[in-house]
Parts: sequence; structure tokens; C-alpha cells
Amino acid sequence: MRIYIEENYETMSKKAALMVASQIILNPKSVLGLATGSTPVGMYHELVAMFKRGEVDFSEVITFNLDEYYGLPKEHESSYYRYMMDNFFSYVNVPEHHMHIPNGMGENVVKECLEYEEKIRIAGGIDLQILGIGSNGHIGFNEPADKLNVTTHLVRLTEKTINDNSRFFEREEDVPKEALSVGIATIMKAKKIVLLASGRNKAEAIREMTSGYVNTQVPASILQTHSEITLIVDKEAGALIE
Ligand code: F6R
Repeated sequence: MRIYIEENYETMSKKAALMVASQIILNPKSVLGLATGSTPVGMYHELVAMFKRGEVDFSEVITFNLDEYYGLPKEHESSYYRYMMDNFFSYVNVPEHHMHIPNGMGENVVKECLEYEEKIRIAGGIDLQILGIGSNGHIGFNEPADKLNVTTHLVRLTEKTINDNSRFFEREEDVPKEALSVGIATIMKAKKIVLLASGRNKAEAIREMTSGYVNTQVPASILQTHSEITLIVDKEAGALIE
């Protein structure tokens, strides 16, 4: 595992954007796995700035997002679809038919999940997967549990995640209790993975995911077994790395 401990959120975001841009410059047809949440916002804004300066071109890039709330229409202000539009897609030239986000409103969830996996497979798999990490160690919405789902699935969110994510909703009771998420193998099959973490509340999860042990109660810990994983953290999130 390559670990970069950055001075602050801004330098973490810049490094992550540089890694995404390098990937696209090396292979303009790259398939990117994308995350939402607070952590990658700075990275997306940096990529938008690079696009505006003509430094990176997304016209052949294909994207797959990690997850979406179940039962939340994509127009909802807290949907991950809206997040991606507002922070990234509306400002760059990823073709609309190249953007993929799980459909949280599909009538047949099982079919939805199978089709999502199939689309990733047909695209040739993920070249570069961007991840954040939950304070409970989740990646995507693969929550701590005795068993982890291998492929895209419907997941019941933990109280911790609902509480953490309530800041994106008016009231905690508005946070959906379920989500669609890619599985652990969907993530692990990515050729390269970059995980970003910022802030003191991620420090324990980062310590666990760099501990040398795999523990399904800290789903991110499995990333230690990936051969191309880069961790970019700010000083606070990296404070407990041993
Ligand atoms: C988001 C995702 C989640 C987040 C994680 C951290 O698509 O899959 O795993 O990366 O919950 O969220 P933030 O960055 O808001 O702390």
C-alpha cells in the first residue's frame, strides 16, 4: 500500500485530482469508479479547474458511481445523482451515456443490481476506483458485518452511517435507511484504487485499514490485499497510522 500523508484537505484533493488526470492522460478511455460524500468534493472541483484549463479531457471516459440511496428520486437534492451533477458532471465533458449511477428507484432491485455489474463488466472493468471511507470503515455502502456482499446489492445502512450522513438532509429521519451499493469484489476487481480520507473522525478507521489484519467489521481493511492501492490522507486522518 502506498500512503501519502498530506498537509491538509486541499493538498489531499490536489494529489487525488492529479492521479485521476494522469490516469485519463495515460488512457483517455479510462473507466473510473467514483465516490460521493464530503471527502472527494475538493478533488472534483480541482478536476473541473483542470478541465477548464484544458489539461484533461473526459470525452471518452466512462464512470460508475459506487452507490445511491434506495427510494430517493434522482432529482432529490440529497441524491448522489444530484451530488455528481452539482459537483462534477455539469462542468466537464463526460458524455451523459457514459455516466452510471445505481438507480435507487428501480422496481426490480435484484435486476437493477445484476445489470449494474454487467455494465461494469462490458465496459471492461474499473481502471481507477476512487473511494472515501466511513467513520465505521465502510467502503461504498459495504457496512461492517460478519459477512460482506461480493457484488452490487441492496444494503440496510447502519445507525452510524445514517447519523453521519444526516448532515446532508434536513432531518435525520429523512435519511433513507437503505441504499444500492457495489460489492466488495466489484471494488477489489478495480485495477487501481485510491482511497481518500480527511479529518480526525476517520483516523481510527484508517488505523484499522492499515493494521495488517483483514476484519469484516472494518470493510476497508480488505483493501490491504489489493496490489495497487494508494491511500491519500490529511494529517488528521493519518494521525493513528502505525
Ligand atoms: C460515497 C461512499 C461512502 C463515502 C463515505 C465517506 O459514495 O461510498 O463510502 O465515501 O461514507 O463519506 P464522507 O466523505 O462524506 O465522509
